[in-house]
Amino acid sequence: MIKRILFLVVVASLFLAACAPAAPTPEPKKVWTYPDMTVGFLQTGSEGGWRAANTASFKETAAQLGLNLKFYDSQNDLAKQVAGFQQFIQDPEVDVIVMSPLEVTGWDQVLADAQAAGKPVILSDRRIDGNEDKYVTFIGADFVEEGRKAGTAMCELLKDSPSKNVWELQGNVGAAPAIDRGTGFRETAEKCGITVTNTQTANWSITEGKAVTEAWLKQSKDVQGIFGQNDEMAFGAIEALKEAGLVPAQDVKVISVDATSGAFQAMLDGTLNGAIECNPLLAPQVYEAALAALNGETLPKWIPSQESQFFMTDPNLKEVAAGRKY
Ligand code: AHR
Repeated sequence: MIKRILFLVVVASLFLAACAPAAPTPEPKKVWTYPDMTVGFLQTGSEGGWRAANTASFKETAAQLGLNLKFYDSQNDLAKQVAGFQQFIQDPEVDVIVMSPLEVTGWDQVLADAQAAGKPVILSDRRIDGNEDKYVTFIGADFVEEGRKAGTAMCELLKDSPSKNVWELQGNVGAAPAIDRGTGFRETAEKCGITVTNTQTANWSITEGKAVTEAWLKQSKDVQGIFGQNDEMAFGAIEALKEAGLVPAQDVKVISVDATSGAFQAMLDGTLNGAIECNPLLAPQVYEAALAALNGETLPKWIPSQESQFFMTDPNLKEVAAGRKY
């Protein structure tokens, strides 16, 4: 009897197993390639030579890799950049969002929304405050270190100067490079007795750099150095010094950040003492990170860009200038 029951149980379970629907074979995991990928890129705007090189890097590299790039120009307006971010979250075609943040704050909500929408976010060029859990990685410069380099260079230039009053032309208020370059500059400059006696934003522009410097020169000519947080503002200061009858790079030492081709020309002309490099050619690293993120790879929170510095006294300056891409 027991054998009969056991036999029936075995037959029944074999029958049920045969009837049970086959376990669905799991979808093969999608492996993303560049042509599959649509990147929504939120650029700051078009403020100067560095930004033009950075934008070209994104557009040209996208074409080379065959990926679809949706380019958004925030026109240096934070509200427009946040609106563009929301647009890319809503846009079903956009797979990954890349942003060059105009300012370090104001991103908490949109980053949370992007995360909820399952859209990876990559920061390019500029960091933001906090939110590390809401973006994949930041690819860009160590702006504090750029500032330190500028401070060290200014110390060297003013080492024999009895007084060391320096004026600082800052980038747009709230921007990571404006905050961090200032911090780094003071860290090294104050060690050699430099005092920053004037500091003001000139929004990365030649015109504003000139106007701000002119206003300061009307008040006093007791300045031994000018730190332009980018090349364009330094070019403006150089024009203002000339018009005030001062010799740039001699009477007043001038150091900038970016090292675009314009800075090389100014160093070759003898009006700019030195330029700390900030590398704008970030797109290849950013797209590589975007693809890795879509394929589920974990990336370091910061991927620093490689940078150098150049001085008008460099013996090979002419050759270096000839070989520059931007
Ligand atoms: O974020 C990088 C900075 O942005 C560059 O130094 C400046 O030229 C640009 O506006």
